[in-house]
Amino acid sequence: MENKITIEQVSYKNVEQTRILKACLETWFKNPKDLNLTAPKMTYPFNFNRWIADSYSKENTLTFVLKKDEWIIGYMSLQLQPKNDFVHLFHVFIDRKHRGKGYGKKLIDGVISFAKENGIPAITLYVIPKNDIAVNLYKSYGFVDTGQKSKSGSPRMKLEIT
Ligand SMILES: CC(C)(COP(=O)(O)OP(=O)(O)OC[C@H]1O[C@@H](n2cnc3c(N)ncnc32)[C@H](O)[C@@H]1OP(=O)(O)O)[C@@H](O)C(=O)NCCC(=O)NCCS
Repeated sequence: MENKITIEQVSYKNVEQTRILKACLETWFKNPKDLNLTAPKMTYPFNFNRWIADSYSKENTLTFVLKKDEWIIGYMSLQLQPKNDFVHLFHVFIDRKHRGKGYGKKLIDGVISFAKENGIPAITLYVIPKNDIAVNLYKSYGFVDTGQKSKSGSPRMKLEIT
């Protein structure tokens, strides 16, 4: 039977969704490497309250989960910009058990669709250079290194939507 794959928007303002997100994130980030690659600024062990305080306390973020047969296997967030001249992608993650099967691409397809539907002309992100898998994924979509860096030194990549 075909698996049912969906991308759904979730909110940390929703108590039930937050409970489920907390359970997923705490399970995924028992692995220090996964926490470091996904959120290099976060310290290990993973602290959910700090995750919220650091990245989700402002109004301008949207969070999406990737579900396979109703089971959450991936996550990504978007930071909207005041001028809507680009959208910033962050916290991109696929559950280890489901990697290498095209689900990371589904997330990138999702953010590209979101940008197109909302008339946003570009997507940006930060990636640490040692994260070869993510760098390959982004380059395969045409993301290019802008030469800029985050405060912590991660290169900034950008995709212009045509
Ligand atoms: C990065 C990540 C989201 C990719 O998800 P994924 O579902 O494994 O990726 P996909 O199966 O969709 O593969 C997409 C592309 O990624 C690259 N890739 C995937 N697995 C790879 C591997 N083992 N080695 C090298 N490149 C790989 C390839 O370019 C691949 O495209 P291809 O299959 O056409 O060659 C996932 O590895 C992850 O969650 N990593 C930990 C968190 C992280 O690094 N987040 C990104 C922060 S910037």
